Amino acid sequence: MQNEVTIVGFGKMGSAIAEFLSQKNWKISVFDPYFSGELPQNFTRLSQLAKIQTPAILLCVKPVEITKVLQEMPSAKTVISIAAGVSTESMQQVYQGNIVRVMPNTPARIGFGISGIYFGKLVESEIRKFCLQLFSCIGEIVEVSKESDLHAVTALSGSGPAYIELMAAALEDAGVQAGLQRDTSRRLAIATIRGTAELMRQDTRSPQEMIHDVTSPGGTTIAAISALKKGGFESTVQNAVNEAIKRSIEISKS
Ligand SMILES: NC(=O)c1ccc[n+]([C@@H]2O[C@H](COP(=O)([O-])OP(=O)(O)OC[C@H]3O[C@@H](n4cnc5c(N)ncnc54)[C@H](OP(=O)(O)O)[C@@H]3O)[C@@H](O)[C@H]2O)c1
Repeated sequence: MQNEVTIVGFGKMGSAIAEFLSQKNWKISVFDPYFSGELPQNFTRLSQLAKIQTPAILLCVKPVEITKVLQEMPSAKTVISIAAGVSTESMQQVYQGNIVRVMPNTPARIGFGISGIYFGKLVESEIRKFCLQLFSCIGEIVEVSKESDLHAVTALSGSGPAYIELMAAALEDAGVQAGLQRDTSRRLAIATIRGTAELMRQDTRSPQEMIHDVTSPGGTTIAAISALKKGGFESTVQNAVNEAIKRSIEISKS
């Protein structure tokens, strides 16, 4: 398959993915009747779904729009959907073509995303290769073998940026309570999260092992870690992810 795709829904995710693909010289067509802004010159704007020429379509509309869009779509295309909680089975009820589901996350907007990807059993290797190439433009990829695993992906990495943002906000507030200026405190919090994320990525040890580096006996960090554990930090995070999984399952059934 050529490096070309039609993006349906040019919102936050659709436009971000388009930008990264375009940087890698992909040919981009866009269908979004509600987008009134200027598209980059090298993009093709489509006025009807029926005019789609590319073999692959990236569906970036809200979950509630999916059925309507699929019903109007030309047949025999490979549809790649990033919609949360819309199952392959429900999409196949209205569209008989290859369907691939992907769950990206917001850091994709700066090329630092991670996408969970599920290929139905019948999806050929050429299409798999195409999808992996496409989503590697916006960050890392993990492939899941069961569609139901996408609930956990949604709860961990899909919703995950909000958990980290909450952590950053809490650290920022703690710094302000300790007397730091808010902007200084924010910079300290964000740079700490960014640096630690990169350190964890480069180090071969587990995060659990790495904590030992900063927890000297009787020191400041062990005092803080003890307080976090006493406050139920780990179980709170695990409960949060479980709640997100439950909600994802509920949404997929509604
Ligand atoms: N944002 C995330 O972090 C994230 C992460 C993972 C997955 N997703 C999934 O990605 C999808 C898009 O999310 P988003 O945050 O990019 O939403 P968004 O910014 O609202 O983008 C959706 C775009 O599709 C347009 N649209 C609506 N109906 C359409 C139609 N019938 N045909 C073509 N375009 C249509 C919307 O126009 P109007 O705004 O004018 O309606 C909007 O420009 C969702 O299904 C979401 O579940 C998002």
